[in-house]
Amino acid sequence: ETVDWTSEDVEKGAFDHYMRKEIDEQPTAIAQAVRGRADGDEVAFESLSPGAFADVERVHFVACGTSYHAALYGAQLLRDRGVPARAYLASEYAVTAPPTEDGTVLVGVTQSGETADTLAALRRGAAEGLGTLAVTNVVGSTAARECDDTVLIRAGPEIGVAATKTFSSQVATLGLLAERIAREVGGSGSTPAGLPAALDDVPDAVETILADSSASALATRYDDSDAYFFIGRGTGHPVALEGALKLKEISYEHAEGFPAGELKHGPLALVTPSTPVFAICTGQHTEKLVGSIEEVSARGAPVVAVAPRSERDVAAVADDVLWVPETHPELVGVLANVQLQLLSYHTATLLDRPVDKPRNLAKSVTVE
Ligand code: G6P
Repeated sequence: ETVDWTSEDVEKGAFDHYMRKEIDEQPTAIAQAVRGRADGDEVAFESLSPGAFADVERVHFVACGTSYHAALYGAQLLRDRGVPARAYLASEYAVTAPPTEDGTVLVGVTQSGETADTLAALRRGAAEGLGTLAVTNVVGSTAARECDDTVLIRAGPEIGVAATKTFSSQVATLGLLAERIAREVGGSGSTPAGLPAALDDVPDAVETILADSSASALATRYDDSDAYFFIGRGTGHPVALEGALKLKEISYEHAEGFPAGELKHGPLALVTPSTPVFAICTGQHTEKLVGSIEEVSARGAPVVAVAPRSERDVAAVADDVLWVPETHPELVGVLANVQLQLLSYHTATLLDRPVDKPRNLAKSVTVE
């Protein structure tokens, strides 16, 4: 008698692909990232002593791929709290780092902890005397061993080449880190309070999306498009970049993400009735996003808003909406990203792509 399943199939359980399984694991992954780290607005990491950031004047992030998008998100959360912060692509930072300034902490965001470009950037910063922190999923990884400090994202193993649950766990962790750093350096911004407490409700919100998403129907409607564009502002910008990256990685369709305000400076030339535009609405800067939607609608492009239900102005100008539950405005992007993961997954399966192992890509890129 032969056995026509592999151990991989068993581990995948009822799912056709690891990516789909890992999308489903996000409520747990986010809950684990947050667990035991916040008490009201007080944030503590088991690996960091109190006052660890007291002398920090600015934060630089280095990362690649999906982790870079999480880093962009994290940098925005710090700036919102009055802490100077910037995300750099690790491959660029490694060759053209900005001038070293005292008081800079260099944070490497890397799921695997083994990405060569990220390690090179961290090593460069360390050689210049910067303090280094690894935000990683892998205990004992090279980044964890080489950096001065480590914060684990606790997402559990991720097998699919396309990163999904680790993005969510990274953003949740970076949200807590932003709160902690801002508190220690005395940063003050205009951001609404309550992000740590709001993170506790994100797993349930993700469950709601997983149970009730119309991403599959939308994928069917748009899967013969010429290209797919993603726009957003603020934390919606890294989510737009991530939505486009996910779609191109696993469906091989042409997809690009832009900050919504940049549309008129070039990308608008590409917009036609055959290029659906996905507009990520975080509930911040809505009026301006509505303007961008009207610009692309006037060129005949179908618009899919990804938005909380309260954003009626956006829903009114969009052709379709992927709804997300109400949450803290800085966390809407995490929920919107789950909808875009599902859209990419369904588009790729409709096009019969090898979702877990896209051509030419590797889970962990260990060469520069
Ligand atoms: C590869 C993977 C991406 C990942 C990137 C960074 O390109 O295919 O999914 O985002 O590496 O990986 P890291 O392990 O550093 O987060």
